[in-house]
Amino acid sequence: MKKVLVTGGIGYIGSHTVIELINAGFHPVIMDNLYNSKIDVLFRLEKICGKKLTFYEIDLREKEKTNEMFLKEHFDAVIHFAGLKAVGESVEKPLLYFDNNVHGTIKLLEVMEENQCKSIIFSSSATVYGDLNPVPFQEDMPTGVTNPYGRTKLMIEEMLEDMYAADENWRIVLLRYFNPVGAHESGFIGEDPRDIPQNLMPYIAKVASGELKELSIFGDDYNTPDGTAIRDYIHVVDLAKAHVKALGVALKEESFFEKINVGSSNGYSVMDMVKAFEKANDLTVDYQITPRRAGDIPEMRADIEKAKVILKWQPEKSLEDMCKDIWRWESRSRT
Ligand code: NAD
Ligand code: UD1
Repeated sequence: MKKVLVTGGIGYIGSHTVIELINAGFHPVIMDNLYNSKIDVLFRLEKICGKKLTFYEIDLREKEKTNEMFLKEHFDAVIHFAGLKAVGESVEKPLLYFDNNVHGTIKLLEVMEENQCKSIIFSSSATVYGDLNPVPFQEDMPTGVTNPYGRTKLMIEEMLEDMYAADENWRIVLLRYFNPVGAHESGFIGEDPRDIPQNLMPYIAKVASGELKELSIFGDDYNTPDGTAIRDYIHVVDLAKAHVKALGVALKEESFFEKINVGSSNGYSVMDMVKAFEKANDLTVDYQITPRRAGDIPEMRADIEKAKVILKWQPEKSLEDMCKDIWRWESRSRT
């Protein structure tokens, strides 16, 4: 059974991936510094999986501790989720983002190299396409970032590409996520923002629950059919499964490097999402239209041919599933 280190495995996407790894016969070991997550998620994961899980509370930048863990566990591969992801915070505290994301990843890669563990799946983002490319975004389009968070993702992508150029014994998959939403169908784990949510779907859920008063729709004057901005939402369980596929494909090869989009390829507007959430859960979401949010672009959508061909993966969950699962999680997490 292949042993896989999941950095950031207590977080939103990492925790869902731990479940899918177990379902696919891998042995995940979790490492997280709990900066943006709670230990409670580990217990919830153990409940869902019906077994004890191995967890290390380590910060990526603590090289000695990471090395000790590698010496003890002998990993076959790493799925690297650990990182900070708030765009606004990254604009205010760029050094925090470069230190945590870039420096942290360098330390991890050093330990991997020293322990001859040379297989990694990295959490990248559609944000690396910047604001100049036409939709749908394809992996070979030029990159261009608009904020420090995005720059950390692009820097890590480029670092990994350079490492592969220097040593083709690496197996590296850069997964570029579009907009992950939804929750595990058990309702036991989901997205749990520390503060007021910045992203659309967690915000909608909190308006529906009465915790927040109303949604602000950031702009209805985009050049889109209803004037609100279009995104490509991907269910977090589908996204988790893409990691398992990527791992399986990469581990079969002696040498591997790919950048792969993970989205649904469907574009939904903000208004589409509000209406879908209302319909799926038979409730009302109050909203007002406000000016555009700085830095937002009219439309983001993935071309997912590469994921279909190389990973033999495609999304299975519908928009209705996303909306129902978010609401189940929001309702359960409040009880
Ligand atoms: P998350 O914050 O829920 O999970 C990240 C986890 O990493 C957290 O549990 C956090 O405590 C941990 N972590 C952060 N810094 C660490 C460090 N230095 N050492 C050890 N642990 C650390 O975020 P998520 O939504 O699950 O995102 C996972 C990854 O996917 C991130 O790298 C993020 O940038 C990337 N990503 C996320 C999205 C999204 O919309 N959620 C989109 C594109 C890319
Ligand atoms: C944002 C980040 C992106 C990151 C992604 C992770 C910015 C500018 N971009 O993408 O880098 O990779 O999250 O998921 O922060 N919206 C509202 N009202 C709200 C919240 C959002 O109308 O209260 C709209 C936004 O304008 C956007 C859409 O909903 O059109 C989706 O927003 P969001 O969930 O924040 O994701 P992105 O902006 O696509």
